[in-house]
Amino acid sequence: MDQIIVTGNGPLSGDIAIAGAKNACLTLMPATLLSDAPLTLTNAPRLSDIKTMTELLRSLGAEVTSLQDGKVLAMSSHALNGARADYDIVRKMRASILVLGPLLARLGQAVVSLPGGCAIGARPVDLHLKALEVMGAELELVDGYVHARAPGGLKGGVVEFPFASVGATENALMAATLARGTTVLKGAAREPEIVDLAVCLRRMGARIEGEGTDTLTIEGVERLDGATHPVVTDRIELGTYMLAPAICGGEVELVGGRMELVAAFAAKLDEAGVSVTRTDRGLRVRRRGDHIRAVNVTTEPFPGFPTDLQAQMMALLCTAEGVSVLEENIFENRFMHAPELLRMGARIDVQGGTARVTGVPRLKGAPVMATDLRASVSLILAGLAAEGVTRVSRVYHLDRGYENVVEKLAGVGAQIERIKAQ
Ligand code: EPZ
Repeated sequence: MDQIIVTGNGPLSGDIAIAGAKNACLTLMPATLLSDAPLTLTNAPRLSDIKTMTELLRSLGAEVTSLQDGKVLAMSSHALNGARADYDIVRKMRASILVLGPLLARLGQAVVSLPGGCAIGARPVDLHLKALEVMGAELELVDGYVHARAPGGLKGGVVEFPFASVGATENALMAATLARGTTVLKGAAREPEIVDLAVCLRRMGARIEGEGTDTLTIEGVERLDGATHPVVTDRIELGTYMLAPAICGGEVELVGGRMELVAAFAAKLDEAGVSVTRTDRGLRVRRRGDHIRAVNVTTEPFPGFPTDLQAQMMALLCTAEGVSVLEENIFENRFMHAPELLRMGARIDVQGGTARVTGVPRLKGAPVMATDLRASVSLILAGLAAEGVTRVSRVYHLDRGYENVVEKLAGVGAQIERIKAQ
């Protein structure tokens, strides 16, 4: 397996271009199943998760053509040949469950493998299923597969989410666009990726109101047209690279970055002693002075501090002056980066969903292992500021969510390389 070698190399400077959002693209791609007309996505990220979703859509009979080195995805599902999403694809990527709502809405039936858990938690999909049942779906669990039927099509209803689930909101939103009558999603998630999906669906002819708030109202339509839609900027990639000059010193401009996508995160960085300023190309990030101040972090649904930036923020706080407390409220097992950071000399005490981080003057490079997508990049950030060499293994996790991470960081002066597996 490939490894990434990072050597602490002092302050960074230059530009990093931010790609389209993985978590927007993974819900925009299944939207093609809702229409027999072509849907084209531009500004698509080049990631292994996108390849997995492509494989899944093709297995259902959709055409997906990757153009311009993967930045454009031209899709069409005018001739679906089935509605079965097999376990061997779904287990590779939980977002595969997002084909369930569109298939049910378009074909009136679907057989989709339950995704199973992953490293960061059990990650059930009960809220996805309950929402579809409110819209009239009949569901049966057989051998780990959801067998869904909607004879006569889905009908509008009022869905009340007990908490803001991103995926459940996306599945229900897509299904509701073709349901007969009005659907109201209460307690909906407000993430920018959901706003982006709503904008794309509206371009396809859907009638949606309220995206970005906790209540979405959808008037079902007979059919949806095609569209061309640019994938929104990836706020998690953006936040990840904002941490590079924060942890190393120096100044980096994140081209394409938008403050409104990372407002809570930027405010927390400012509290820690890092300046984030708008430029006409994106965001400029610079650490004020030589040290980071300890801060407390609590992860919340958008617009709160994103859980997907918690691991990366912990790497920064390992080098802060003072004690920081991080509360992980979204997933039950999202501190697996902590034992690896301890190997680098960090001082972290994890108790359930709370991690107390006591900053140390300097981390020390060490061989470490990536355990999940965001944990892997937090180890790279730690390696950028550590004394000596950090060797990160199992970097296939990284490839799921970060395109060209070595090139992007090397481009601003980091000493980083990727060693191909022997
Ligand atoms: C999306 O996952 C993202 N993935 C995750 O990003 C992100 O961490 C998460 O939202 C929260 O922001 C994609 O968009 C592809 P949830 P999702 O439904 O939709 C529980 C990354 O690193 N839950 O908001 O699965 C669930 O177990 C990934 O890019 C239920 O209990 O997140 C979790 O504890 C990781 N029942 C919490 O809710 C359900 O039916 C939040 O899950 C659904 C979720």
